[in-house]
Amino acid sequence: MIDQAQGLRLKILESQQRSAKTIAVVSGKGGVGKSNFAVNFSLALQNKGRKVLLFDMDIGMGNIHIILGKQPDKTITDFINNPETKIEEIIFTDGDGTSYISAGNGLHNIVEWDDIDIERLLNALSSLVHSYEYIVFDMGAGAAHHTMELLMAVDDIFVVTTPEPTAVTDAYSMMKYIYMKDKEKQFYLICNRAESENEGIDTLNRLKLAMVKFLNKEVYLFGVLPEDRAVRKAVTQQVPLLTSFPQSAISLSICRVLEQYLSGNTTYTSSEKKGFISNLKRILFRRNG
Ligand SMILES: Nc1ncnc2c1ncn2[C@@H]1O[C@H](COP(=O)(O)OP(=O)(O)O)[C@@H](O)[C@H]1O
Ligand SMILES: [Mg+2]
Repeated sequence: MIDQAQGLRLKILESQQRSAKTIAVVSGKGGVGKSNFAVNFSLALQNKGRKVLLFDMDIGMGNIHIILGKQPDKTITDFINNPETKIEEIIFTDGDGTSYISAGNGLHNIVEWDDIDIERLLNALSSLVHSYEYIVFDMGAGAAHHTMELLMAVDDIFVVTTPEPTAVTDAYSMMKYIYMKDKEKQFYLICNRAESENEGIDTLNRLKLAMVKFLNKEVYLFGVLPEDRAVRKAVTQQVPLLTSFPQSAISLSICRVLEQYLSGNTTYTSSEKKGFISNLKRILFRRNG
């Protein structure tokens, strides 16, 4: 059933030149659980029969391949370093259908991006959006130049924080920074590693209140993910959490967040409308002009 439904959706996608919904998972402070969320959210989408590309943008410090339990032999560094490399050559697809691009880890993977590299990547992306229903970017911490370019282009921004005050203030700063560049951007707030549902909701409410009060910007309270030892167990076993511990509290929470996202957000952006492609074009045009 899922296969049929997926086949149909992909046909529609092709025939109408629909483009993928693009999501960036960001945080202010590092180590709050972005990668873990990005991977398992993508797997949950995949389990729903959606065609997903998971893109690790934490260049040189990437870990989505580790969370997935994979060892890809090509990474984004190969794409950046060799202009002949096509983006398809660095996409790996698992038996279960999960497609991903690895950011590589290790210092040799840290590359300087110049404008030409960013442009090549943006061009490659504007063709990939026709092959997937969702593209999920797992971002590194901070606001590097290439990160900001990409953030400006994506449809939705998932902001991950923990209840820790430093994580919350950094998440606010990150959103403020993005908001100053694009007032229309949608933010979806997630509190990870909450000791209780209440702690998570309190944290998100504080963040939301700050956004409304200081920037007059509404944001979505998206979900609370519990502190859960299953996360570490999964990493140790080198199998994704959602696959190895589907009934853990955190897996169930991730699935709930996904349901919520899909129920409010089921349609893909048409390339006619203001979306990823037109944002990319705008950025490319601005760069060239
Ligand atoms: N909900 C959670 N419960 C317990 N540990 C978690 C949880 N989420 C993340 N972690 C742990 O926190 C660390 C950072 O997670 P990671 O996803 O790599 O963060 P980021 O991508 O934001 O740097 C990892 O060791 C991970 O296992
Ligand atoms: Mg990460």
